[in-house]
Amino acid sequence: MKKRIAILISGRGSNMLALSDAMAAGAIPNAEVAVVISDKADARGLELAKERGLEALAIERRGRNREEHEREMISALREREVDLVCLAGYMRLLSPCFVEAFRGRILNIHPSLLPAFPGLDAQRQALAHGVKVSGCTVHFVDETLDGGPIVMQRAVPVLEGDTVETLSARILEQEHRLYAEAVGLVLSKQLL
Ligand code: GRF
Repeated sequence: MKKRIAILISGRGSNMLALSDAMAAGAIPNAEVAVVISDKADARGLELAKERGLEALAIERRGRNREEHEREMISALREREVDLVCLAGYMRLLSPCFVEAFRGRILNIHPSLLPAFPGLDAQRQALAHGVKVSGCTVHFVDETLDGGPIVMQRAVPVLEGDTVETLSARILEQEHRLYAEAVGLVLSKQLL
C-alpha cells in the first residue's frame, strides 16, 4: 500500500509541486499525494495542484476559531486516510488539537538552519544577523514554533550583496530537493 501524503499550503505552492512531482516521478517510492489543502481559496498552489490532476481543497477559516477550522481539516484528512501531513508554506500555527490528531506524522519545511531564525521572515532575520551560512530544515511538527525534531538540513551560503529575494531564491532551490529527500527518509526508515 502506498503511503498517502497530504500537503497543506497557503500560497504559491512551489514546495507542494516539488513534492508531488517527486512522487509522480517515483523519486519518493511508495508514496502518493492524497490531497492538497489550502486555508486560502485564492492560493496559486491550489490551481497548480488542480492542473496536476490532484484533489485540491480550500478549507478557509471563515470567522471560526482555530480549533473549529482545524476540526474540518482533520475530518478531511481522516476521510482520505492520510498517513503523513506535509506543511509547505502553510502560514498558520497548528493548534495542539491538530498536532495531537497527527502526532509524529506532520512535517514542515523552514527556510533557515533551525533552531536559528524560527518564525516569519527567516531569510530577513538571517541577513540582519550577518550570518554567512543559512539554509533550510525539514522537521517534525510539535506544539512549539518551528521547534520539533529535525529530520534533514541543507546549508546554503549567504553571499556578499545578497538581498532577501536573492537569498530566498537560493534557499528555495534547495528546499525543493530537501523536502522530497526528507519525506523519502521518513518513509524508508518507517519513522511514521
Ligand atoms: C518556503 O520558503 C517554506 O520554507 C516556507 O514558506 C515558503 C513557501 O513557499 N515555510 P512555497 O509556497 O512552497 O512556494
